[in-house]
Amino acid sequence: MKKEVIRIEGGHELNGTVHISGAKNATVALIPAAVMADGPVTIVGVPNIEDVKNLTDILHLMNVKTQVKEPDHITIDPTEMENVVLDDSAVTKLRASYYFMGALLGKYKKVRIRMPGGCYLGPRPIDLHLKGFEALGAKIDYTGGLYTIEAEKLVGTRIFLDFASVGATINILMAAVFAEGRTTIENAAKEPEIIDVVTLLSKMGAEIHGAGTNVITIDGVKHLSGCFHEIIPDRIEAGTFIVIAAAMAKEMTVENIIPQHIDALLAKLQEMGVDMDVSIDKVVVRGRGRYKAIDAKTLPYPGLATDLQAPLTALLTQATGDSEITETIYPQRFKHCDQLNTMGADIDVRIPRAQIHGPKKLYGMDVYATDLRCGASLVVAGLMAEGVTTIHDIYHIDRGYEGIDQKLNRCGAKIWRETVEE
Ligand code: EPZ
Repeated sequence: MKKEVIRIEGGHELNGTVHISGAKNATVALIPAAVMADGPVTIVGVPNIEDVKNLTDILHLMNVKTQVKEPDHITIDPTEMENVVLDDSAVTKLRASYYFMGALLGKYKKVRIRMPGGCYLGPRPIDLHLKGFEALGAKIDYTGGLYTIEAEKLVGTRIFLDFASVGATINILMAAVFAEGRTTIENAAKEPEIIDVVTLLSKMGAEIHGAGTNVITIDGVKHLSGCFHEIIPDRIEAGTFIVIAAAMAKEMTVENIIPQHIDALLAKLQEMGVDMDVSIDKVVVRGRGRYKAIDAKTLPYPGLATDLQAPLTALLTQATGDSEITETIYPQRFKHCDQLNTMGADIDVRIPRAQIHGPKKLYGMDVYATDLRCGASLVVAGLMAEGVTTIHDIYHIDRGYEGIDQKLNRCGAKIWRETVEE
């Protein structure tokens, strides 16, 4: 079977500017949220990634019209929408298709949808989402891989999340937007993507308070209308490029970012000794330094993002001494470590920790992107390695990074795609 791979010739110094795209993890919630409106919603800053293409396919199944004006403008028109069963392969290609649960349950009081897909990071249950829907008055049936979630009416209530889950917070608040009365979500997640979704819903007419804190209050409304919204920059893409710059750039500017969103990463890079100037919407990195080993722990926002753990681990293979990363969000999210070890790294994984012994010279090898951020870590490693690295299963990378190869080539990297027989 023919498949596309990414090849990277390592060792080239990078220079220049990288412009960060709109946030993937906000976009994948904003698109389902948009269908709750009665009229067209225009979203600007939409990244050109596979997850967006799959979500657009799902919209078309529901007879929601979409219009792409500029490459990153999408207008979503749900005026003639039909609440069909979402049983298509597009649903299983990404995790975020589960946001249609909250959006459609809220709008129609009924949704039928296949179990969502997405990156395998160890078990990824959705029990908190479902408990939230039940608390609002929904009944749930799961038969043959298909969820049916329906309610005669949704009634606002108090919901305490056992874990501050990003997905559960967004899904429950979307369902609660049309519930009768007030819903309070306690121990809500505080990630910037949640604020972005609430900003969109508020522009549409929702009554939501407290986004960005751990208590979110939603007062139910009857209708939402169309609006215009610009997506926040992708803090994980920003962090990935800052890590790349620390590894390989003489001087690289990573622009169109909100540095506060990646404070925890910047603090860790400073501790390693990375030379950076942080300003309002960009970070200038003078990389290729000699770095110190560090200890780090992934945590809910504003802690170090689990999605940056893999790229940071790749950089730590070049730091002097023993680093330790503890993963508290997805304790089994260490598949990238096997791939990095194939390239010459010395990483011991003892779940939920990885010990990285550095510095170790990396060599170009055939490696596999087992998930999106594993793919990002292999790009970081490939740029640092001697020789040519071939990354397989790059559909994971294309799900979440817009033109990562083009952005890097503009800065002097040698990275290209090839179709190979597998
Ligand atoms: C979002 O996933 C992101 N995905 C993930 O990004 C990110 O890693 C994660 O948040 C953490 O920040 C999207 O936004 C589409 P969670 P989500 O619910 O919402 C447990 C990437 O690489 N949990 O906050 O699925 C869960 O198992 C992706 O871009 C339950 O136990 O994450 C995990 O341990 C991968 N029951 C923890 O909570 C539930 O019902 C946090 O998960 C829900 C979650």
